[in-house]
Amino acid sequence: MSQQLEQVKALIELREKARMGGGQKRIDSQHEKGKYTARERISLLLDEGSFEEFDMFVTHRCTNFGMEKNTFLGDGVVTGYGTIKGRLVYVFAQDFTVFGGSLSETLAQKICKVMDQAMKVGAPVIGLNDSGGARIQEGVNALAGYAEIFQRNILASGVIPQISAILGPCAGGSVYSPALTDFNIMVKNTSYMFLTGPAVVKQVLGEDVTQEQLGGASVHASKSGVAHFACENEDEVIDTIRELMSYIPQNNMEEPPYRPTEDPIDRTEDSLNEIIPDSPNAPYDMYEIINDIVDDGKFFEIHKEFAKNLIVGFARMGGSTVGIVANQPKILAGVLDINSSRKGARFVRFCDAFNIPIVTLVDVPGFLPGTQQEYGGVILHGAKLLYAYGEATVPKVTVTLRKSYGGSHIVMSCKQLRGDINYAWPSANIAVMGADGAVAVLYAKELKAEEDPDKRAALAEAKKTEYNDLFCNPYKAASYGYIDDVIEPRNTRFRIIRALEQLSTKKLTNPAKKHDNLPL
Ligand code: HXC
Repeated sequence: MSQQLEQVKALIELREKARMGGGQKRIDSQHEKGKYTARERISLLLDEGSFEEFDMFVTHRCTNFGMEKNTFLGDGVVTGYGTIKGRLVYVFAQDFTVFGGSLSETLAQKICKVMDQAMKVGAPVIGLNDSGGARIQEGVNALAGYAEIFQRNILASGVIPQISAILGPCAGGSVYSPALTDFNIMVKNTSYMFLTGPAVVKQVLGEDVTQEQLGGASVHASKSGVAHFACENEDEVIDTIRELMSYIPQNNMEEPPYRPTEDPIDRTEDSLNEIIPDSPNAPYDMYEIINDIVDDGKFFEIHKEFAKNLIVGFARMGGSTVGIVANQPKILAGVLDINSSRKGARFVRFCDAFNIPIVTLVDVPGFLPGTQQEYGGVILHGAKLLYAYGEATVPKVTVTLRKSYGGSHIVMSCKQLRGDINYAWPSANIAVMGADGAVAVLYAKELKAEEDPDKRAALAEAKKTEYNDLFCNPYKAASYGYIDDVIEPRNTRFRIIRALEQLSTKKLTNPAKKHDNLPL
């Protein structure tokens, strides 16, 4: 065998060794937990044969605790680039079979390399996290490595999409990189995120709590809002990332992918002319309306289990991606509160950063009152949503279906927050508040003075009718031009698509500044 052939053979052997990560025993143990290995995850995520790996031969440099005798090629993370449906993405997948995927100085450098490369060429970064946190043997060098990653997450935010999948433990400071990214996707029963684990919780607070109860996928998807998706298994995580990618652009200078549709843009939906119940307090399902107006009835929901009184997600209309924000009258009457405001604000800001027009469907009775909300800072959280809409420069099309009262009317993309096209259905009520509340305030003295209950009820009814005739319709707002047109509900899809087409060359910039001071 020639010397060169021997060198090639040695290379192939080295590569084989690197591909084995922490060895067969640890790979088996990973599988026994119902988890894929880092390399299996990458090959499922990317288009077949598209993965190009970096830094396969990197090893750690730690000499503490005899670590120099314990090295693995690749050092606990697989990094590189490939394609998803032909589009370039950068990936890193922490390898739990090597020191539990724990983060060393060199492992961090590998992650930083793909992030830097992604920023240079303007492509998304997808992180597949499965790690025991900072590599304890490396001490402060591991912490420095984390900080290097966080700094890059911050600078990349709003420039390239960043997606995190949490596929195993994610404890301590390692939660912060996912938290800084745009989307967190968790898997039920095998992934968890928390700052301090159950043992510390027990020690400090005396509480018994399991890992799943403290930071499992369901908890973060429904209670904290840290996770945008809670998937049943890792295959579903992979499908979710691939589908999510289909709605978003490569970077903040590009448009989202266009997908031609057979669904006619002028498709009308007669059922929408009868969907609003006669009683103003009766609910209906906002999903029905969303599904009726978007291409092929296909809605990709984000944060499905969190703050269900507000629905957010991606869809296509006339082939182009839109971000949908809609109050859900079926949950808490569609009221805005702390969590729905946070959820909506984050989504609106993502859409604005990445050139995705926003379609807002309004049926909102107001903000949820009470000490719990006020003590929790609903003023600031509501202001986030208000701020997000007001600063957004992407096309904004709003349709008011029924209620749009008071502060929540303003927050939900009203005309004066630079709403481009604001339509209303004939069933819209745009006012400071509903008739019941208004009459109780305006005629409190008269109603109190009337001793006969029947006469009091009749007086209240008469005043409510007067109020409803004056304010609880879309025509008052339309008469001032705050509503651009009152539309027939069955034509909603067509009217929105026409509006978006008209706005496709919209140019609007905010005043130059170092950065804003969003009410956090
Ligand atoms: C070095 C680690 C490690 C770590 C795990 N391992 N975590 N090595 N540093 N942080 C190693 C184990 O020694 C073991 O090596 C292998 O990874 C698998 O770990 P197991 O414990 O056998 O696996 P499992 O039972 O599944 O438990 C997983 C685990 C547990 C829950 C993650 O390993 C764990 O509690 N690890 C420590 C978590 C932690 O406290 N990390 C620091 C957080 S603080 P062998 O050789 O046996 O395969 C932090 C600060 C960052 O991250 C701050 C940034 C701002």
